[in-house]
Amino acid sequence: MKFLTLFSFFAVFFVQVQAQQNTVIVNADQAEIQINEHVYGQFSEHLGRGIYEGIWVGENSDIPNKEGYRTDVLNALQELQIPNIRWPGGCFADNYHWRDGIGPRNERPKRLNTHWGGVVDDNSFGTHEFLRFTELIDAEPYISANVGSGSPAEMRDWIEYMTFGGDSDLANLRRENGKDEPWKIKFFGIGNESWGCGGNMQADFYADLYRQFQTYANNYSGNELYKIASGMYDTRYDWTETVIREAGEFMDAISLHYYTLPGEGWDDKGPSQNFGEEMYYWGLKAGLLLDEFIIRHKTIMDKYDPEKNIDLAVDEWGVWTNPREGSNPGFLEQQNSLRDALIASTSLDILNSHADRVTLANIAQTVNVLQAMVLTDGEKMLLTPTYHVFHMYRVHQNSMLVPVHADVNRYVKEEWDEPVESRFDLSFEEPGIPTVSSTVSKDENGVMHFTVTNLHPNATQEVVFDIRGAQVDEIVSGSARILTGDSVDAINTFDDPNSVQPKKFENVELEDGKLTMSLPKHSVIVVSVR
Ligand code: AHR
Repeated sequence: MKFLTLFSFFAVFFVQVQAQQNTVIVNADQAEIQINEHVYGQFSEHLGRGIYEGIWVGENSDIPNKEGYRTDVLNALQELQIPNIRWPGGCFADNYHWRDGIGPRNERPKRLNTHWGGVVDDNSFGTHEFLRFTELIDAEPYISANVGSGSPAEMRDWIEYMTFGGDSDLANLRRENGKDEPWKIKFFGIGNESWGCGGNMQADFYADLYRQFQTYANNYSGNELYKIASGMYDTRYDWTETVIREAGEFMDAISLHYYTLPGEGWDDKGPSQNFGEEMYYWGLKAGLLLDEFIIRHKTIMDKYDPEKNIDLAVDEWGVWTNPREGSNPGFLEQQNSLRDALIASTSLDILNSHADRVTLANIAQTVNVLQAMVLTDGEKMLLTPTYHVFHMYRVHQNSMLVPVHADVNRYVKEEWDEPVESRFDLSFEEPGIPTVSSTVSKDENGVMHFTVTNLHPNATQEVVFDIRGAQVDEIVSGSARILTGDSVDAINTFDDPNSVQPKKFENVELEDGKLTMSLPKHSVIVVSVR
């Protein structure tokens, strides 16, 4: 017994200190596709404390605010360089009637939010408040229109209200409500999850409805809408095929939603804190499946659209766990751990790697809901580990994707693969998960940016990036930063808000075109070279 205990101690110690070797060949002269900045988009729905309290507190609140928007949250989001933000849903969008949210706030109708927690929405946050918010954080609006319970005429009028610069009753109503000049709206979703909460439609029916609705999604006063069709959820390949085949000629993009459930499935998604290594493994494994779903949907798109005229918009993604204890289950509140940050970094690597089709993506959701960037409690606010990943990854926005060839170790627990396989009815080609995930990009000044994640919960990864096709001589001063924590389930709390935050990273060297780094267990780093 004593011998066994001693043996296991040494076994664990060995695994923990042993560093594993990995090589990544970087073909710097083959960067041909741009990583669209809009892949770094956000999503804010009328859901729980996402908008009300999280973003909007009203001008008379004791919480410091600018024009009714929380100052602390505004500052944090401005820092993040958010390219676009999707609103008002999600499922809420197909229940939303835009006229409820305009005019004097105290005269707006109070409506029941039937999807999320059965609470009353006083509509104090409406079209003007959302679009002003996008101006304040310098993001492009992505409006999601109501197809499930709305009409083409209602949608048409909303577009005219927002974007027409001439002398029409709707444009003049907008002026009466305080906005003279029309807004520019590009991203425009026509329906959300129309196969589910957005109307429980069949693919053929939605394809026809999409064709009808998009006919009335007009361009006014130089505004040009980029029309996004409601797409599928992970394995709904049949939906993609039908909608693209029947209505593909009328869309700029079709969406894909994928949520990472670290637990058993929808009935038990797993806790968002104190989950341990097995659920860490399940979470990573499930997160990495995003790649498989994108590849399969792209294959269908290639069949009907070989010229790649239609983009894939992954306009809802992220980790979805069981609700935080004591919270309203309809508010989808959860903690945000280092694991979630690593799922975010690897998901962003996947999205970047599909830059040829994926030009827009939106993590769900910005504040207080699901895999949030920011959590609030009264007047307190904290930045989540996921926030920091988005901050570190800003360097890739609009940079050119540099192709890499990675030869990396795998973190293998075959007995833990099976539960994920059976949930998705898949059989994995290789057991385990890669320990190292990365994105390499090159910006317009020729600076190369590396973001690298070590997913292993116990072992350091030594990684050599062999940079070919470019002359690089120096690490950009101050660019190397690392995000990690004491454990895979490390979190930030209101009492200790900076437990997981980026720090200076020292273990990186550049010599003879080889960028060598030593990545501690469960960490993500960013570094730039020129
Ligand atoms: O993000 C939460 C919900 O997840 C959205 O409202 C819906 O589109 C999806 O099912």
